[in-house]
Amino acid sequence: MAELSPIDKAKFVAAKRAAEMVEDGMRVGLGTGSTAAWLVRCLGEMVREDGLKIRGVPTSTRTAELARDVGIEVISLDEARWLDMTIDGADEFDDELNLIKGGGGALLQEKIVATASDQMVVIADVGKQVETLGAFPLPVEVIPFGWQTTKALIEETLISMDVLGRQTSLRMNGGVPYITDEGNHILDLHLNRIGNARQLALVLNQMPGVVENGLFIDICDRVVIGYGDGRVEVR
Ligand code: 5RP
Repeated sequence: MAELSPIDKAKFVAAKRAAEMVEDGMRVGLGTGSTAAWLVRCLGEMVREDGLKIRGVPTSTRTAELARDVGIEVISLDEARWLDMTIDGADEFDDELNLIKGGGGALLQEKIVATASDQMVVIADVGKQVETLGAFPLPVEVIPFGWQTTKALIEETLISMDVLGRQTSLRMNGGVPYITDEGNHILDLHLNRIGNARQLALVLNQMPGVVENGLFIDICDRVVIGYGDGRVEVR
């Protein structure tokens, strides 16, 4: 393998350590993003070379394609019904292992799959560790119908909740609105700092038009942190 940059090395070592937690016979939720892609490649190698027997439930069409390419048996969540473990990346994690996810646009399937798992393991380079969530824009998946009205409602609610940063933007892709695997749009909320993540997550999900938000509260059980020098820490 070519020499990896420190950030890729950090993602790779975290993914490799988490892959070692996977046991024969497990049904495994497969996350989305560049770190999760390392995991899928590691698991694929274990399937092909060590005879590891797992079934994977991908959290996006991208991950499904990669998983099949590397030789992992792919099944749907409804076929699996319940998962032994989900391993996924994150955009931010705090000391309580609460997360911001959705930078890659797959937060809805990711949250459904993680919630249907005995345990969720997050893999991340150390740069994703924060004291308070919110520097990374919070993704919120919204229905395309009336999305501007939903955006305005979110902005008004942020004001009434005294949230400092209130700027919201529609995620774009090549000049057109980004479309998720479920056919929805994503609003990115530039909040800087989320004082009460639990409350914000609940309030957002009560709004008509909002499908899901990228705050993962009390869902993650463990974080595997990779460092650019190849060290790994499990919390
Ligand atoms: C996708 C996600 C990703 O896990 C998150 O964006 C981290 O991505 P990466 O590993 O590429 O930094 O939530 O929706």
